[in-house]
Amino acid sequence: MYFPLFITTVLALIRASTAEIVESFHDVHAKDFDFVIIGGGTAGNVVANRLTENPGIRVLVLEAGGSPDGVLNISVPLFCTRATPLTPEDWNFTTTVQPGLNNRSIAFPRGHVLGGSSSVNFMAYTRGTSEDWDRYARTTGDSGWSWNNMQKYFRRNEKWMVPADHRNTAGEFNPAVHSFTGINSVSLAGFPWPVDSKIVEATRQSKDEEFHFNLDYNSGKNLGVGFVQSTIKDGARSSSATSYMAPQFSNRKNLHVVLHAQVARILGTSKNKGQTSFDTVEFTDGVGGSTIRVQAKREIILSAGTIQSPHILMNSGIGDENALKELGVKAVHHLPSVGQNLSDHNIITSFWSVNAKDSETYDLMERDAAVANEFINQWEKTRTGPLVDGIFNTVAFVRFPPDSDIFKQFPNHDPSPGPNTAHVELIPMNGILRPPIPTSGHYLTISVALLQPSSRGAITLRSNNPFDPPLINPNYFSNDFDIVLLREGVKAARKMITFPGLDDYIIAPFNNNATTDAEIEQFIRNGVATFSHPVSTCAMSPRGADHGVVDPDLRVKGVDGIRVVDASVLPFTPSGHTQAPTYAVAERASDLIKSQWRI
Ligand SMILES: Cc1cc2nc3c(=O)[nH]c(=O)nc-3n(C[C@H](O)[C@H](O)[C@H](O)COP(=O)(O)OP(=O)(O)OC[C@H]3O[C@@H](n4cnc5c(N)ncnc54)[C@H](O)[C@@H]3O)c2cc1C
Ligand SMILES: *[C@@H]1O[C@H](CO)[C@@H](O)[C@H](O)[C@H]1NC(C)=O
Ligand SMILES: *[C@@H]1O[C@H](CO)[C@@H](O)[C@H](O)[C@H]1NC(C)=O
Ligand SMILES: *[C@@H]1O[C@H](CO)[C@@H](O)[C@H](O)[C@H]1NC(C)=O
Ligand SMILES: *[C@@H]1O[C@H](CO)[C@@H](O)[C@H](O)[C@H]1NC(C)=O
Ligand SMILES: *[C@@H]1O[C@H](CO)[C@@H](O)[C@H](O)[C@H]1NC(C)=O
Repeated sequence: MYFPLFITTVLALIRASTAEIVESFHDVHAKDFDFVIIGGGTAGNVVANRLTENPGIRVLVLEAGGSPDGVLNISVPLFCTRATPLTPEDWNFTTTVQPGLNNRSIAFPRGHVLGGSSSVNFMAYTRGTSEDWDRYARTTGDSGWSWNNMQKYFRRNEKWMVPADHRNTAGEFNPAVHSFTGINSVSLAGFPWPVDSKIVEATRQSKDEEFHFNLDYNSGKNLGVGFVQSTIKDGARSSSATSYMAPQFSNRKNLHVVLHAQVARILGTSKNKGQTSFDTVEFTDGVGGSTIRVQAKREIILSAGTIQSPHILMNSGIGDENALKELGVKAVHHLPSVGQNLSDHNIITSFWSVNAKDSETYDLMERDAAVANEFINQWEKTRTGPLVDGIFNTVAFVRFPPDSDIFKQFPNHDPSPGPNTAHVELIPMNGILRPPIPTSGHYLTISVALLQPSSRGAITLRSNNPFDPPLINPNYFSNDFDIVLLREGVKAARKMITFPGLDDYIIAPFNNNATTDAEIEQFIRNGVATFSHPVSTCAMSPRGADHGVVDPDLRVKGVDGIRVVDASVLPFTPSGHTQAPTYAVAERASDLIKSQWRI
């Protein structure tokens, strides 16, 4: 009996000392939770980490997806395009039929895994501009969301690191605007390609004001061309799962994370004063599929992202009362803005064939498994080589001047938050990554993204079954300004490749032979994809406003017990990618929660 007892003791010790990230709620040995966090994604993991800094506070995280550990298509940066769509780590959503896209319905990837979309995204680290954040402060009436006030939250999140090749990066970024002490790693490219410096030099020499060199697009002003900063640590993806949920945090005895736990709804009880108080979360456990209810003693934190946070609110009876009733969902609290105002960036991709050697673009790797395997071996052994970076190392943020064609066509319509913020983002990539992969040749890709869409859409319920995916309607190009802006963006990309130093690299357009404005617009309607930056479906608005979903402290308007903390609360898209803003929102939210509960 001695031996088995010994083994049991060792097992018990291992369980007590390893991460409390479990596959089933039945493995959670605690009963009382101060906070229940719905979604172990980008934002949810930040809040879980910060609240459990206090050992007296017990937190439960319910995440529908599994673990990203050991998934090569997630951890290898250059494989980021393989992590979605239609993989075990994707929710596999598609949009509704989009009239603006010639009736196409397009893939709408979202991370279905611990770390959420930070585990599957393309890792670009962009904070938006000071004008973006000052607009958030203005529209919410809360100066706490201003650029200056948010700096401390960007800094808590960011841990700047040297890139995988350990080169001297002086002149590639401005250290004064970065933090070396945060939790989530950020670095410059660790395997720069010849085309990267070609692009930066050609634009630097061009003397075209739109394409001036910008040392650091995260300094508050994003205009110009510069080097991309990415959430990459030592050549591998840094997500909220690998950073905020690293073992030194997930080992905390007061933190419990359950994977494969899909939340259906939140339940409340009506109080005498008429304000409903929500304190119970209903979810399906991945093991056995049983329905379980847990209670939060203090608050429920809804961090299911821009698509599912409003979905869960509506399934809980919080939304437009008539729309809910029509589908047979009992309305508990009339809040018509839930799911409305969906705002998403979209992106159009052009290819050119180029003069390059096999080793100078990533085309060969895409069509030759032997080459790819060599790179994988190198990556696995040393975390160096072509796989250590995401799919773009340089970027151009371009603003159209007041006398440009677009503003002649749409006078008095400028959706940007101010004069120092770009309208479009141009993203050069060193080859073709998306099927069909050409069987020969070398390529340059430039994607163009719209940064401040004037079109707004909505997330609505498909049925009263909470496990049915919601209807996702971004309403792309329902406002004509957007397609004209993107068309001018395509022209800006075409201009960029004519600069001396790039012109002799380019051979010919590969997929973009459209010439007239009308043809370019058709090319866009037929080819545009989501840039995967949806926001605004649980938007912040001033306290007492007749629209909006959450107050500036992120508490759901008109009910007690629920706070939304994720990208959905941003009332406008930032003028860049959305993960850094989401991390910063979650860092500030953690402070707001701690201060309200004095913890
Ligand atoms: C393919 C792709 C590429 C991108 N590229 C970039 C980029 O390069 N740079 C950048 O800055 N941003 C990028 N983004 C956007 C960025 O990653 C997101 O804006 C950000 O991660 C959103 O964070 P979030 O916390 O709001 O949601 P998420 O990180 O998506 O977290 C939501 C979490 O909730 C879970 N969940 C949802 N519903 C339920 C439920 N019912 N029950 C339990 N759990 C649930 C999900 O599984 C997920 O883990 C990209 C996104 C995608 C999808
Ligand atoms: C990784 O992505 C590649 C390319 O899409 C795919 O063929 C492969 O099956 C993926 N690997 C896993 C383990 O899912
Ligand atoms: C998405 O599709 C993939 C491939 O078919 C599948 O393995 C995965 O389970 C799907 N994701 C969800 C959330 O159903
Ligand atoms: C899109 O569908 C609508 C409704 O069926 C139809 O009227 C319209 O002509 C279609 N548009 C295109 C470009 O096919
Ligand atoms: C959408 O957002 C705008 C701008 O913040 C606001 O004026 C409007 O009321 C919102 N609409 C809804 C339905 O919330
Ligand atoms: C332009 O490209 C499209 C799509 O690749 C192709 O079908 C068409 O024939 C091309 N037109 C010309 C004039 O080359």
